[in-house]
Amino acid sequence: MSKVLILPGDGIGQEIIAQALKVIDFLNTNNALNMELVHGLVGGTAYDETGSPLPQATLDAAHECDSILLGAVGGYQWEKLERGLRPERGLLGLRAELDLFSNLRPAILYPQLASASTLKEEIVSGLDLMIVRELVAGIYFGEPRGVEERNGEKYGFNTATYFESEIRRIGHSAFKIAQLRDKRVCSVDKANVLEVCELWRETMENVAKEYPDVALSHMYVDNAAMQLVKAPKQFDVMVTSNLFGDVLSDCAAMLTGSIGMLPSASLNKSGFGMYEPIHGSAPDIAGKDIANPLATILSVAMMLRYSLNQADLADKIEMAVNTVLDKGYRTQDIASEGDSIVGTSKMGDLVVGALV
Ligand code: IPM
Ligand code: MG
Repeated sequence: MSKVLILPGDGIGQEIIAQALKVIDFLNTNNALNMELVHGLVGGTAYDETGSPLPQATLDAAHECDSILLGAVGGYQWEKLERGLRPERGLLGLRAELDLFSNLRPAILYPQLASASTLKEEIVSGLDLMIVRELVAGIYFGEPRGVEERNGEKYGFNTATYFESEIRRIGHSAFKIAQLRDKRVCSVDKANVLEVCELWRETMENVAKEYPDVALSHMYVDNAAMQLVKAPKQFDVMVTSNLFGDVLSDCAAMLTGSIGMLPSASLNKSGFGMYEPIHGSAPDIAGKDIANPLATILSVAMMLRYSLNQADLADKIEMAVNTVLDKGYRTQDIASEGDSIVGTSKMGDLVVGALV
């Protein structure tokens, strides 16, 4: 029996999570999944109801669960709130409080969607890369930070910081994942300019000594961005800091045709994980039944694989998604000429129908 905290959050979060719940319900009833669900609030929705984007009740529930399934956070109506009350703080707070330092963002191209990519088919066909992003340190959390008055004008500042131990542990995550894949790690930094990245590079070299079967290379982040769109298949595992990982993972996601297809995992050292689609809350399309629920459904598969030790059911979900794509069903974000365009809820039903 596993216990999972469901946090739909904001925007399209509600409707995409509803589809994932259909899949979980089906597996609970028909495949002895035995997943107990606890529901909680996060983000702008939580702020509206409780005055906080990360209520204590949500944190308490998280500590009592085996994993979290999150939709998305954010929306225009909360953008003017003071920083500490904005929806994003809910997400960043969960990451920090639960020490979810290892963020796995796979970018896999489904062959059925090769024509949905903005890049030429031969550049992206067969793409399967994993971005390992450090998630609880770096410039996102570094101190000092703020905006103040200096020399008679406003002055804004943030600090990019890494302890060696923080680099080491994300390094270990990346190398361990590479051992299960093509055994190549590319560490991305800006060591030609930033001291913190010099430490990053040196530490990665040290961690690499413990993994003689894995090849380590280094790349500056500007070049990495260019290489991702020029020849993305050269990469197996990319490991990088919080900010660079934020940027590069959106870029990598888009190579696959749609950011609406990609799940992610954020893990702490005991394997507890928060699973969420890579895309955001997309408030512009919220409530219209057009959002793609597949990234969220695939996040459930990732949860079963990485935290709940039920790879057989993960396979089942991934196969069901493949079947639905094979039949030509698409939400509008991944549709090409001749496809059958379906809405969010229908897509959820189709995946459930393909869960054999
Ligand atoms: C992501 C998002 C978040 C981030 C935002 C919503 C705070 O862009 O998960 O990539 O910057 O980490
Ligand atoms: Mg991002």
